[in-house]
Amino acid sequence: MTTFRIAPSILSADLARLGEEVRNVIAAGADWIHFDVMDNHYVPNLTFGPMICEAVRRHAVRPDGTPVPLDVHLMVQPVDPLALAFCKAGATTVTFHPDASTHVDRTIQLIQAEGCKAGLVFNPAMPLSVLEYVIDKIDQVLIMSVNPGFGGQSFIPMALKKIEQARRLIDASGRDIRLEVDGGIKVDNIRRVADAGADTFVAGSAIFGHPDYQAVIDAMRRELQAA
Ligand code: DX5
Ligand code: ZN
Repeated sequence: MTTFRIAPSILSADLARLGEEVRNVIAAGADWIHFDVMDNHYVPNLTFGPMICEAVRRHAVRPDGTPVPLDVHLMVQPVDPLALAFCKAGATTVTFHPDASTHVDRTIQLIQAEGCKAGLVFNPAMPLSVLEYVIDKIDQVLIMSVNPGFGGQSFIPMALKKIEQARRLIDASGRDIRLEVDGGIKVDNIRRVADAGADTFVAGSAIFGHPDYQAVIDAMRRELQAA
């Protein structure tokens, strides 16, 4: 049985009340917190640095004190210095775009040596070919179903084909690798994305754009249970 994970992206939260938003979305049932790092170079937008990650880390805790995983998605170039900084700032997982790193294998090793999980992110028009050479190492694959840079964009249907391809590669590897999807995930398409093989779902505007976070997360879980 697949364990599905819902990872709200705080990019769409009320950033002036970030700590409270993180606590509220955890209380509403978030499994992970997705943290979008944009550098105004690799993507045309600018968001959060390691200091904000450290601040969020203190709020990303369940009422019983269990830490909630911080899923840091780096949309930056160069990758390595910031990957290290986010590991030190409390990231659980650091994912990066292979096309942004000169030495993909080295970047993976660097992240894992800090005790974090490492993952690769694939833009809509990027092939999965690099996976073949690092599937024995990585912990996560993230398929972008929008072009990175902004929340609130529409899901690109071609991503479903890539999710299916990634699922086949992961299953053939026999390793425990999360298959995450990011961009345009809503209650009405999450099931289709799960059917294609994804097990982890980033959702920004669908959750934070609704007054009742729990209602959205519950509705997503109901769709997933039907799978
Ligand atoms: C886009 C980000 C996404 C984004 C998803 O570059 O990686 O995580 O916040 O937002 P929605 O769910 O609104 O498409
Ligand atoms: Zn993201």
